[in-house]
Amino acid sequence: MAVFLLLLRLVVFSLSFAINAVQTAPASHAQVHIVYLGHNNDLDPSLTTDSHLQLLSTVFTEPNEAREAILYSYSCGFSGFAALLNSTQATTLSGTDGVVSVFRSRMLEVHTTRSWDFMGLRLHMHTEQSSQRHLKFGDDVIVGVLDTGVWPESKSFRDDPHYGPVPSSWKGTCVVGDEFDPAAACNRKLIGARYYLAGFESELGPLNTSDGSEYRSPRDRVGHGTHTASTAVGSVAPNASYFGGLGGGAARGGAPRARLAVYKVCWYRDLTGRCSDADILAAFDDALCDGVHVVSASLGSPPPLMPLLSTSTEIGAFHAMQRGVVAVFSAGNDGPDASMVQNVSPWGLTVAASSIDRRFPTVITLGNNASIVGESFLVKAMKNGLVDSSSVFTDGTCTFEQLINRTAAWGKIVLCFATMGGVSSDGAALAVYAGNGAGVIFADTISRKSSQDSFWPTVHVDLYQGTQILNYIRDSRKPTVRISPSKTVVGETPAPAVAYFSSRGPSSVSPKILKPDVTAPGVNILAAWPPKSSPTVIPLDKRLTEWNMDSGTSMSCPHVSGIAAVIKSVHPTWSPAAVKSALMTTAYMYDGTSDVMQAGGTVKAADAFDVGAGHVDPLRALDPGLVYDAGARDHVVFLCSLGYTEAAIRNMVLPQPALDTSCPRGGGGGGGPEADLNYPAIVLPDLGGTVTVKRTVTNVGANRDAVYRAAVASPQGARAEVWPRELAFSARPGGEQASYYLTVTPAKLSRGRFDFGEVVWSDGFHRVRTPLVVRVTNLPDDGVKVVQAANATGDGSQAAA
Ligand SMILES: *[C@@H]1O[C@H](CO)[C@@H](O)[C@H](O)[C@H]1NC(C)=O
Ligand SMILES: *[C@@H]1O[C@H](CO)[C@@H](O)[C@H](O)[C@H]1NC(C)=O
Ligand SMILES: *[C@@H]1O[C@H](CO)[C@@H](O)[C@H](O)[C@H]1NC(C)=O
Ligand SMILES: *[C@@H]1O[C@H](CO)[C@@H](O)[C@H](O)[C@H]1NC(C)=O
Ligand SMILES: *[C@@H]1O[C@H](CO)[C@@H](O)[C@H](O)[C@H]1NC(C)=O
Ligand SMILES: *[C@@H]1O[C@H](CO)[C@@H](O)[C@H](O)[C@H]1NC(C)=O
Repeated sequence: MAVFLLLLRLVVFSLSFAINAVQTAPASHAQVHIVYLGHNNDLDPSLTTDSHLQLLSTVFTEPNEAREAILYSYSCGFSGFAALLNSTQATTLSGTDGVVSVFRSRMLEVHTTRSWDFMGLRLHMHTEQSSQRHLKFGDDVIVGVLDTGVWPESKSFRDDPHYGPVPSSWKGTCVVGDEFDPAAACNRKLIGARYYLAGFESELGPLNTSDGSEYRSPRDRVGHGTHTASTAVGSVAPNASYFGGLGGGAARGGAPRARLAVYKVCWYRDLTGRCSDADILAAFDDALCDGVHVVSASLGSPPPLMPLLSTSTEIGAFHAMQRGVVAVFSAGNDGPDASMVQNVSPWGLTVAASSIDRRFPTVITLGNNASIVGESFLVKAMKNGLVDSSSVFTDGTCTFEQLINRTAAWGKIVLCFATMGGVSSDGAALAVYAGNGAGVIFADTISRKSSQDSFWPTVHVDLYQGTQILNYIRDSRKPTVRISPSKTVVGETPAPAVAYFSSRGPSSVSPKILKPDVTAPGVNILAAWPPKSSPTVIPLDKRLTEWNMDSGTSMSCPHVSGIAAVIKSVHPTWSPAAVKSALMTTAYMYDGTSDVMQAGGTVKAADAFDVGAGHVDPLRALDPGLVYDAGARDHVVFLCSLGYTEAAIRNMVLPQPALDTSCPRGGGGGGGPEADLNYPAIVLPDLGGTVTVKRTVTNVGANRDAVYRAAVASPQGARAEVWPRELAFSARPGGEQASYYLTVTPAKLSRGRFDFGEVVWSDGFHRVRTPLVVRVTNLPDDGVKVVQAANATGDGSQAAA
């Protein structure tokens, strides 16, 4: 015990120390910066690198200094470099001709919900992943996963005689490293593996591999990358289960036949996987030239968000899009408050997380025989004394720091409230464990209440149930409780339901672009895991496990990456915008008004800021009928609306014959209907008067003479009308495209509330649904003049040019 506490203190101390160290670095000190130069115009990478060194040496006195300062030259997928620069040098470079932007490289994190991932979890339930479809498709498609690496021996990545040769378009490689021998690790399934450390080590110091907590190689130590990769493309692995076949079944990814290329950019530090912008961009640069078709990245950094195109993920996604590569990101785990969504660029696909229709009800019987149904992952029944947190912790706050009376907790189940001091269930579990308690009953609000497992027995209840238990404890001289083993119930729960942790829109930099885009399963997802004991300090369950359950938008993102791979396999010529549109317009909204647990009440139905266009439907996404496509000209106009100059735009958008790179008249900021990027969702965050939006749809259905008719649901407080109301497509050249206009007029005086509607096009067979989100702002804010509205087009971000 004492050793554990000591270790824990060390961890807590080093955590806060690390955070301080990063924040207090002096400004004049050289920091990792990214200098972004746009596309590389298909120049020879070595020439591009020479030009980077030349440019960099203009801010140094000695040529050697430039060579020492540069960390990466991005010269294949796009052009730019990462280098150690002081603020003067960064400013000088950002004013140089041909430089699109210069920004500080930041540290991102993987999007798992728990920091306790790395220990063997006491899990035993099997969660089947998305439905058994598309087993045939995808072996011509390569998915690149940017994460913490891979455990190549996992059954999910085994070679299989049914695979054909590696696609001839593949130019990537498997590199050698610590405990990673490409000859043994790579095969026709796992076809690429690289790692990137220069940015991480420049920011956080040398990687410490001495205690076995990391490998200087593509091998995964954290587990997150193995889990996400197997969720995206894991082969069918029969008999995946926990501990002797409890809840056994087959585990498989969204595109079980697709090939996997691993780019390790996140490394174990401070109990999580941390990833540097400079390394992520290097991985994108390679992945685009290696020939991946889909990039999956379950990582990010919470708001405040940088302007569009000033982060690695957005630059990467922008150039991926131009090369026909679909980039899929997690929305983040900062829900349920509004506007916390991350990875919001219009060229990426942003995925929220929702539950599946499976729950784990657990009966709690109090000493007075009253029974309450909570949620847990208990294998064995428990019968213990029961104590209220106030007897164990100062102010009843279940945290390690507030622990005052271990005697009171000894051998008992402790009732903790999230609302007393704002604690998390993992935090409470740790505190009760430290106090020698036998387990926790954790009460939280209905909307936040989760069914996640913890490393110490934890039963989740809602506040009403928690209050009932508290009243019983107060009334009883010797309170006791019995807890029955958890059951698995499938299909009886209104599902999916949005996960409380899933980050919500609207986007805090570009509210006109709906984010998140879609949702997919992200709660208690079973997938492959490195069968190694945990590198964390908690010496609990060290059982080796090949499979693990985890939650987060980290888990929902690779589901969509897998589905995107299947779409690319069936429709290889579709652009990333078309793939995104197919996923969005065929997604379904939840009708349920109940949260997943439903135990003591209801919560509001999910809206477009919770789940985007809705929950992905893989089969329908293969045959969407119509798609909202977007080409190079759309992106030129959009970049104009962000304030980029025409010269910068010519650097960024790949040259094409006859591509018009001029900004529309009336100023780049003017925008108008054309600046809306033909997004498969319409958001009007600032509707002061009538606004008309234009959209163009392309018929990709089998019937080339299809006729679609519109049905519009106006949001409350506004009137939405579409014109024309009928779109007739034909087989003649150009006949596959048609445009429509949506006019939205405020129908009330209001300020500040978002309302939700939709535009649905249907030919009787396909249903093409486009979310419509409106905030009427025709009532003046007391005395505050609204200036920003006039120039708000694509978004509210400033230009980085
Ligand atoms: C930044 O580095 C350059 C070149 O080494 C040097 O001349 C300049 O004084 C430095 N500026 C700051 C603010 O440290
Ligand atoms: C690396 O980790 C080991 C074990 O945790 C520790 O003893 C050692 O001091 C660390 N080395 C560095 C350079 O931080
Ligand atoms: C599945 O796993 C269980 C438990 O490990 C084992 O008893 C059983 O034989 C396995 N079945 C197959 C088909 O491998
Ligand atoms: C609870 O139920 C058990 C068994 O049915 C019974 O023996 C016991 O007396 C009951 N206790 C109370 C407090 O009602
Ligand atoms: C700690 O809890 C025990 C058992 O409930 C109680 O007897 C004791 O008085 C408590 N100690 C303090 C310092 O509150
Ligand atoms: C809006 O844009 C126009 C033209 O680009 C510019 O002249 C005007 O100053 C801008 N207005 C505001 C409020 O930024």
